[in-house]
Amino acid sequence: MIEINSVTKKFKSSGKEFHALDSVNFGIKRGEIFGLLGPNGAGKTTLINILTGLLVPDEGTVRIMGKDVTRHRNDVLERMNAVSGDSKFHWLLTSKEILRFYFSAYNIPKEKREEKTRSLAGMFEIEGIMNKKFAWLSTGERMRLILAKSLINDPEVLLLDEPTLGLDPDIAIKTRKLILDVNRRYGTTILLTSHYMKEVEEMCGRIAFIHRGRIIDIGKIKDIKRRTKKKTLEEYFVEMVKK
Ligand SMILES: Nc1ncnc2c1ncn2[C@@H]1O[C@H](COP(=O)(O)OP(=O)(O)O)[C@@H](O)[C@H]1O
Ligand SMILES: [Mg+2]
Repeated sequence: MIEINSVTKKFKSSGKEFHALDSVNFGIKRGEIFGLLGPNGAGKTTLINILTGLLVPDEGTVRIMGKDVTRHRNDVLERMNAVSGDSKFHWLLTSKEILRFYFSAYNIPKEKREEKTRSLAGMFEIEGIMNKKFAWLSTGERMRLILAKSLINDPEVLLLDEPTLGLDPDIAIKTRKLILDVNRRYGTTILLTSHYMKEVEEMCGRIAFIHRGRIIDIGKIKDIKRRTKKKTLEEYFVEMVKK
């Protein structure tokens, strides 16, 4: 579903060029929840921005559902969705207005919108906040609204950039459960970034560990643990980052 081939992206920091991404290679299969794990500044958001076509790689290519993202951005964007844990909307818009905006952004036929709103509101338990302004929503309500928004175009691919960043533990648990539900119910292919080892350990089948723009390990969690003889990913990766 997603093929990332030798992707390199350089930025300048105080006049000096550095690699935010350095020859990144990996693929994600249909229906899997793949975790991109790495410390702050590792390059996770940069890669997500390349996948959505917001940034263009200096080298390498990205294909999603068989299409080159740089060349066929609109075709790809129609069939996927991306949200970040720190997504914000205008504070005066109500939940209903925010969803309405995305319905029209994705050209969802008018006759389908009501039914879709009802089913998303049911799934994410946001029926009671449809007329509330974004400013007055709790963190948990905001997260559920953001997840509902992410399904508005029935995406085949979902990119979630640190979806539980800064959430209270109970809300983070709920959010993880909802993401798993989405994957099970619709078979959505999910790329999730996180710097919480536990989170990816709980949710993902395969992971890639990114550090300073490089993928330093990739594979099934259970294989990585077996190979490294570690009980948790945390033990292993703390060691890798020190090197
Ligand atoms: N537009 C930009 N210009 C310059 N440097 C950037 C830009 N975007 C990100 N960076 C830098 O690139 C590195 C990777 O950032 P990012 O992809 O946001 O990391 P992560 O999401 O893993 O925390 C960081 O050092 C960050 O400061
Ligand atoms: Mg980030």
